[in-house]
Amino acid sequence: MTVKEIFETMDYGPAPESAGDALAWIVDQGSRFGHFIDGAFTEPGEGFDSRNPATDEVLATLTQATQADVDAAVAAARKAQPKWEKLGGPGRARYLYALARLLQKHARLFAVLETLDNGKPIRESRDIDIPLAQRHFYYHAGMAQLMDSELPDARALGVCGQIVPWNFPLLMLAWKIAPALAMGNTVVLKPAEWTSLTALLFADICQQAGLPKGVVNIVTGDGAVGERVVAAEVDKIAFTGSTEVGRKIRAATAGRGISLTLELGGKSPYIVFEDADIDSAIEGLVDAIWFNQGQVCCAGSRLLVQEGIAEVFHERLRTRMDKLRIGDPLDKCIDVGALVDPEQLRRVEALVSGSDGTVYRANCDLPEGCYYPPTLIYGLSPASPLMQEEIFGPVLVSTTFRTPSEAVEVANNTRYGLAASLWSENINTALDIAPQLVAGVVWVNGTNMFDAAAGFGGVRESGFGREGGWEGLRAYTRPVEDAKPQTPVVAFEGDSAEPQPVDRTAKLYIGGKQARPDGGYARNVFDAKGALIGQAPIANRKDIRNAVEAARSAGGWAKATAHNRAQVLYFIGENLSARAGEFATLIDRLTGGKSGKSEVETAVNRLFTYAAWADKFDGDVRSVPMRGVALAMNEPCGVIGALCPDEAPLLGLISVMAPAIAMGNRVVLVASEPFPLAALDFYQVLETSDVPGGVVNILTGSHTELAPTLATHMDVESVWSFSSTDLAQTIENGAAGNLKRTWVNNAKTRDWQGPAGEGRAFLEAATEVKTVWVPYGA
Ligand code: NAI
Repeated sequence: MTVKEIFETMDYGPAPESAGDALAWIVDQGSRFGHFIDGAFTEPGEGFDSRNPATDEVLATLTQATQADVDAAVAAARKAQPKWEKLGGPGRARYLYALARLLQKHARLFAVLETLDNGKPIRESRDIDIPLAQRHFYYHAGMAQLMDSELPDARALGVCGQIVPWNFPLLMLAWKIAPALAMGNTVVLKPAEWTSLTALLFADICQQAGLPKGVVNIVTGDGAVGERVVAAEVDKIAFTGSTEVGRKIRAATAGRGISLTLELGGKSPYIVFEDADIDSAIEGLVDAIWFNQGQVCCAGSRLLVQEGIAEVFHERLRTRMDKLRIGDPLDKCIDVGALVDPEQLRRVEALVSGSDGTVYRANCDLPEGCYYPPTLIYGLSPASPLMQEEIFGPVLVSTTFRTPSEAVEVANNTRYGLAASLWSENINTALDIAPQLVAGVVWVNGTNMFDAAAGFGGVRESGFGREGGWEGLRAYTRPVEDAKPQTPVVAFEGDSAEPQPVDRTAKLYIGGKQARPDGGYARNVFDAKGALIGQAPIANRKDIRNAVEAARSAGGWAKATAHNRAQVLYFIGENLSARAGEFATLIDRLTGGKSGKSEVETAVNRLFTYAAWADKFDGDVRSVPMRGVALAMNEPCGVIGALCPDEAPLLGLISVMAPAIAMGNRVVLVASEPFPLAALDFYQVLETSDVPGGVVNILTGSHTELAPTLATHMDVESVWSFSSTDLAQTIENGAAGNLKRTWVNNAKTRDWQGPAGEGRAFLEAATEVKTVWVPYGA
């Protein structure tokens, strides 16, 4: 092309990046890779080809890890862990810093290798994936440095199994490995089978950094290898990938007492208000849905545009789509590269071919092979699978809304809750809508912004746990041991033990009212000497459902000001204090002990403590590298179901209830099973303390029978158990349905009177961090 012709057409010429160094690195390694275990590469074994999706050429042959390989990797990690932890934060920081430096030094090699392996445009791997991976190691080098002084009560978990997907192979590795290592854990990481090469290059730089052997282990292979990692003797599983596999992992880890974080799929809304800067919003949309060919968990894949501008917006969008350049990912001028694998291409094609909407495909030259054109689909019904399911390709679905409240309703009409973008030039609109969106991350006038200092992760079926920021570290630490094993606490027996039909006995407390149990039965409650004290209703699954419904409809509590919530907690404390003697006597009689007085005193104090916390468990502002702020806001989880401690009938219930409602949650509490009567008297206190109906619901009955209903209920966001019966397996397995959060402290007891019975751990469990990015710009 002559200079004259270039000036005439203003077309971009090709600007290919050379693949030479990356291909040479593969050849240097023998083009066949084993695993990286205990500081060394193993001999290649039975394996599979790793291909460049843009050309279909085989790049290398990888090894499918056997059970023995996974066992060896876990054993190496286990052996290395104590020494790595003992090295101390500053010692580990040096290694993380060295890894960051080496990632920076070899940035070009990493970027080209990533593009060859994944098909993503080099512009993205060079400017986004690799710099963010470096940033993650730098940031966490800092976290390691500060751990001893800033997190004195945190300990490493031990060995972490980490499973990452193919859409951001190195970046997801960095998100997983950097915080784990910083906090003193060792890891066994499994990259996705389509994209393992940058993980193996990372293993190479671990050697160059002189990282102690066994600290990082990498095993390659498909989902079966993932299953082996999940089944291994690890202390934590961290997973990023599809919701379907996340659910399987939740079930497979149930009851094993290991930590779990899941970063899963999404169908994130991209909301454009009438007063938005339309051109910026369209440019943002290019980054939201055509970044990485739309293979992004938080892709803005659902466009919601306000009716008044819908026509002009779609028109300009189609014009912009036609200008997207699609082709050779190594070409620096390319906007849209290849999909990761022909299988993914088929998945996307199959989903779109079933569309009942109007499909617009970008008018571009589509190269042969694993490419799919940027696509816009509109006119779909809200229930259409394309509006609800993750397509994970360059396909945008679009709908309209009339009012801001309708925008919120449509945006939240999804089982996911990963991210959301909203565009408006009106700060009032933006800051009004952002908190109402059910999502872990909200971008105002922007999209797909990430940083190590800002937490990332979802709610609902987008998973749980955060990566990045201080909250990300929590997922890689445990508190210094404060719980002791416990045998089940059993009720006292006595005469006439047959349950009686309910007469004028205590009732359940549902929706702010006393309610007879659905089954109509109660059980006799005896004291230590076998004398009858009273009767406690036996709740069943219907009662749980009624209580959850009542809790759901008390959503106004989350919107009450923290000051108001504090006032209600003070009031409960005051009213309980007025009846302290009566409760102390009842507790002593119920438990056959003498701690009633101190239990009530501590309970009153605890109510005051959480009244104090209600308006002080603040979010903060994160120093992200942009002109703007990233707000980390603590939001309530929603409806929390809790099986209360058996051994401390009043204090246990209050220790669970108070932090949850202080943070704006509503609770369904199943009281101490052996000693239920104190809870039933306590609702009289609630009734006189201005607690809105439905905020606290109290049931009595069998923990074993009620736990499965709570755990599987689709309208419960979180389940806690401090029961003395081991219900971990039941709860964690049941929670896989809607991927609710769980906090199970089973068959263990803690000192409810002491510091272990209150504090930040409870507040953190009662909240989710939402990150709201607000860039500046005039
Ligand atoms: P996937 O969830 O199957 O794979 C992610 C990782 O999990 C890979 O390393 C895989 O080998 C591993 N894995 C698969 N089955 C496993 C099991 N039973 N136990 C443990 N590990 C297992 O995702 P896939 O099949 O690659 O993509 C399917 C769809 O999932 C995509 O079309 C997309 O919709 C979604 N997806 C979402 C991602 C996200 O970041 N949210 C990432 C990747 C895929």
